[in-house]
Amino acid sequence: MGDSAKKGRVTVIGSLNMDLVARAPRLPRPGETLAGHAFAQVPGGKGGNQAVASARLGAQVAMIGCVGGDSNGATLRSSLEAEGIDCTALATSANAPTGVALIVVDDASQNAIVIVAGSNAEVTPARIAEEEALIARADVIVCQLETPPDTVRAALAAGRRLQHTTILNPAPAARKLPPDWFPLIDYLIPNELEAATLSGVAIETPDDARRAAQALKAKGARNVIVTLGAQGVLALIDGAPGEGVHLPSPNVQAVDTTAAGDTFIGGFAAELARGAGAMDAIAFGQRAAAIAVTREGAQPSIPHRSEISA
Ligand code: RIB
Repeated sequence: MGDSAKKGRVTVIGSLNMDLVARAPRLPRPGETLAGHAFAQVPGGKGGNQAVASARLGAQVAMIGCVGGDSNGATLRSSLEAEGIDCTALATSANAPTGVALIVVDDASQNAIVIVAGSNAEVTPARIAEEEALIARADVIVCQLETPPDTVRAALAAGRRLQHTTILNPAPAARKLPPDWFPLIDYLIPNELEAATLSGVAIETPDDARRAAQALKAKGARNVIVTLGAQGVLALIDGAPGEGVHLPSPNVQAVDTTAAGDTFIGGFAAELARGAGAMDAIAFGQRAAAIAVTREGAQPSIPHRSEISA
């Protein structure tokens, strides 16, 4: 999609990782060595994935982040630039290596991920102050928890002060978010594990997700969307009827769920920035994520806007 066809601006404050991905019959047990059957090294990181998803799915995107001065950093930077993402606020660390993620994907398409932050730890609150102009130009700002917490809070606070729409994907799962974060969040988008950890409500079913979403909304988040993998999403949206709507996922054969949530969030953010209402943006994000799970890898799996059916 050419830049001229892109509408709405999304600024992502977040992580960039080089993903080292092994495919194995199943996830290893503690102490076990397991023979895998494929290996790939692909651009990832929740921040990078959400930025790429927003760009491919129709928004003008800027990325605030930090890579290392190594070959992984150069690869991640050039892959964002190739998507037309504004990387003027993407710093290069003088000391830290680029973040990495070690990922195992099993034959049932589930994954387990370990991240090592590296240069992502250098996305400091001072960077948010320095890049205020970039945040001011955005319609929607998107954060996750793979950069330091003080930075995420500063970004959400800047978004709120500038009256932009703020999205927090609280991933990786945190036991608690500070209470003063919730009123800064327009859309809190956890997966079921993150929602359970944050709310204390065990989640097996969409009804459990509804209770978790209600608990998180009661803390002050304006809207809560719990992603439930193959079970779809539970959306508790201001002004929408009822106490939370369950939207099932399109039925597809998944091969790798890595970055499915990131694709949903990037697509949702892009669609909101383009002027859609929340429920339409959710449906769009779900269609995009349903395509991503049918492909391998993080950023390589993310579809373009032209691939999403109306
Ligand atoms: O959400 C998937 C992402 O989580 C991977 O790309 C990996 O880098 C980790 O950040």
